[in-house]
Amino acid sequence: MTESKDKSKAADVKTETYSEYEDHLIEYLTSPSTIITKPTEVEIEKHHQVITAINYPRVVDPGWLTRLIEMNLDFDLSVHISPYSVVTTVSLLENELKKQKTDIYALESEGKIVPQALIQQHEDTSALLQLIQEGSEKMFDMSLYIDAKGFTEEDIEKTSKIIRNTMNSLMIVPKIPSYQMLQALKSVLPIAEDELKVTRNITSSAAAACFPFAITSFETHATGILIGFNAINSIPIIIDPFELSNPNILVLGTSGGGKSYAIKLMMMREFMEGVDINVIDPQAEYTDLIKTFNGQIIKIAPGSDSVINPFDLMDQTLDEKKLSLLAFFRVLLGELTEPQRAILDDTIDRTYEEKGITKDPKTWSKEPPILEDLYNEIMPLTRSTKEIIYRPAMAIVNSLKSYAFGPMRFMNQQTRMNLNNRMISFDIRDAPDVGKGTLMFLILEYVYTQMKKSKTRKMLVIDEAWTVLSSGEQSEYILRLVKTCRKFNLSLVMLTQDVEDVLSSRAGRAVLTNTATKFLIKQDTSVLEEVVKQFNLNNAEKRFMKIATTGRALLIAENTRIPIYIQSSPEEHRIITTKPDEIIEMERVELTKPVGKGVYREFDVNLQVHRKSDLTDEQLKQLEVRDFLEVRVKTLTGESDLFLIRNEGEDTAEHFVLQHLILDEIRRYTNKGLLHHTRLPDVTFETPDSRMIAIEVETEVGLKRSLENMEEKLNVMKKYNECFFVVENPTIIQDYKDKFGVMIPRTEVPAKIASYFT
Ligand SMILES: Nc1ncnc2c1ncn2[C@@H]1O[C@H](COP(=O)(O)OP(=O)(O)OP(=O)(O)O)[C@@H](O)[C@H]1O
Ligand SMILES: [Mg+2]
Repeated sequence: MTESKDKSKAADVKTETYSEYEDHLIEYLTSPSTIITKPTEVEIEKHHQVITAINYPRVVDPGWLTRLIEMNLDFDLSVHISPYSVVTTVSLLENELKKQKTDIYALESEGKIVPQALIQQHEDTSALLQLIQEGSEKMFDMSLYIDAKGFTEEDIEKTSKIIRNTMNSLMIVPKIPSYQMLQALKSVLPIAEDELKVTRNITSSAAAACFPFAITSFETHATGILIGFNAINSIPIIIDPFELSNPNILVLGTSGGGKSYAIKLMMMREFMEGVDINVIDPQAEYTDLIKTFNGQIIKIAPGSDSVINPFDLMDQTLDEKKLSLLAFFRVLLGELTEPQRAILDDTIDRTYEEKGITKDPKTWSKEPPILEDLYNEIMPLTRSTKEIIYRPAMAIVNSLKSYAFGPMRFMNQQTRMNLNNRMISFDIRDAPDVGKGTLMFLILEYVYTQMKKSKTRKMLVIDEAWTVLSSGEQSEYILRLVKTCRKFNLSLVMLTQDVEDVLSSRAGRAVLTNTATKFLIKQDTSVLEEVVKQFNLNNAEKRFMKIATTGRALLIAENTRIPIYIQSSPEEHRIITTKPDEIIEMERVELTKPVGKGVYREFDVNLQVHRKSDLTDEQLKQLEVRDFLEVRVKTLTGESDLFLIRNEGEDTAEHFVLQHLILDEIRRYTNKGLLHHTRLPDVTFETPDSRMIAIEVETEVGLKRSLENMEEKLNVMKKYNECFFVVENPTIIQDYKDKFGVMIPRTEVPAKIASYFT
């Protein structure tokens, strides 16, 4: 049987009035050109086979249809539920009851055994009647249709079979409605018309249990961000961590599994939702991301401007500060012995007292001591004759030495810290390794005390968090931080590879219980069993963890667990990936995009120089919000033009643009050209016969300054096979040939460069 609706009908407008045509326009536009119906299939581009449910199990659990939804197959599912009026239901049930009673009497009077099923049915019906009369249940008609789809007949046969098997396993009896496929297909369409009417009556609670998204999605919050996608059915997972019992997040997994990646994505998305972000970044791997969002990068390392003095009270009481200092020394010394603790207890008090800081709150605003003061306080104890004193004192003094006089002595000063951004990273990559733990601890304390002051939503991300968390083993201080940050709307986001330590230590377990959201990323086989035990993973989840590739995770939010995959947009990926190969590739791509006059270049906000005439209004806006400056510069043709630039160095705008324009000119011929903003020549490139050429740009007009600048570069320039200067001042070009060799004005640059390639 073939039914055909040809789109060319739309062309028959001659026989139709315009308003008739308009009435049917949607139909014309959306109707398929052919529909082929077969006894058990309909073909509309794809093959379709609709399966109906003709019977259901007697008792179902909430969300029992989820298993159907979760099949990773090509199909649509429709459930029609329509109510009965109470009066009809009651008379229907009463009739049904009468019939059942008569059957039972008949059997009994004949002395036969009444089947259990009949008794059960009778009890069910009378219980239901009672519930309906009480008004606590209503009756509905329900029908369930699944439209299996496939590109070939084999496809569809396979899909349909899997669906029917799954239905059977749920005790739903499937049936393919032969010779009724078209009505069946219409019944699946989202137009709320059940043409097939293969119904079954059910109660309100059974209808509620049919809601098929009960398990895999989370209770939806009005707010929240996209965390990832359900790995089984690709349903987006949107969570608002701040709406859970606590906003803390823990990410556990092996190196390279995608911990930082997942959190970077989350940070960007939360930031867009108005959440303030702070990161403690031991590897300086969040720098690109922070720069993209115009955030603030605070470098803490020898010689940098920012320091935190461990003795700074940071708006805490003296008692609180003492607790935190003891925790600080735990990070510094490892576990404290009893005598060490006693010595610290006593000397810390005295160090503060000498600065006039006592238990009296009025004294807390005085200038606090620094590490050296404590060192001087403990030093005399090392000369004690009592072993119980000089031994622990020696241990403390030895560790403190590097802070008072050694590689960490940059911390031996008063706090200097200026936070003024919604996104801040504390970059401690260049701090000596010995001090990284203590630095992370101090930053955590500092940021925590700062963040306590406001109730707005904020996140503190601690990458490689175990360094600080492990000091929580004996220290109530860290554990209290983890427990209390909820009160200030602060989400602590902790990432760590040290899964074993987290699972086996007291501190780790305390962190686990105070963390509502957990990401279990790929685990080492050595800890997998422990993870399974700790999180009570079932076999399917265990298998998922075992074979999880980069970017896959088991998400645990409160009591819900979902295998997910974490996916970014290409733009997000570009900002956050750390794979060296990809980064080199991206730099290469960037290098080969010249600032040419509309010729080769695709727009990319991350390039530092844009010719204004190449930009659309939209692109201009994008650059404006990123603090690009508009400048007018004379180009290599001698005409002036407008550019938008982001010049972070110390060169003038003109020098900066000119440097880029020269490099572009070189890129007409080769990729082997480079810009330098250091003591090297401004531009260098390699010729086809492997000679290295250096170009120095001197845009200064003043004679004296120009000569000084050029002289400074001359020695480096001479190291190249050939070199020349691009100079603004004509007097120099004329009078200083002997000294500087080849010098040309900018307009001669294109010809000069071309000469190396012909
Ligand atoms: N969801 C993802 N999609 C695409 N690429 C990913 C994803 N997750 C991770 N990657 C890739 O893997 C790289 C390593 O991931 P990431 O830096 O997050 O590892 P990590 O778990 O933090 O490792 P480490 O413990 O060594 O810091 C990323 O730079 C990125 O290129
Ligand atoms: Mg990482």
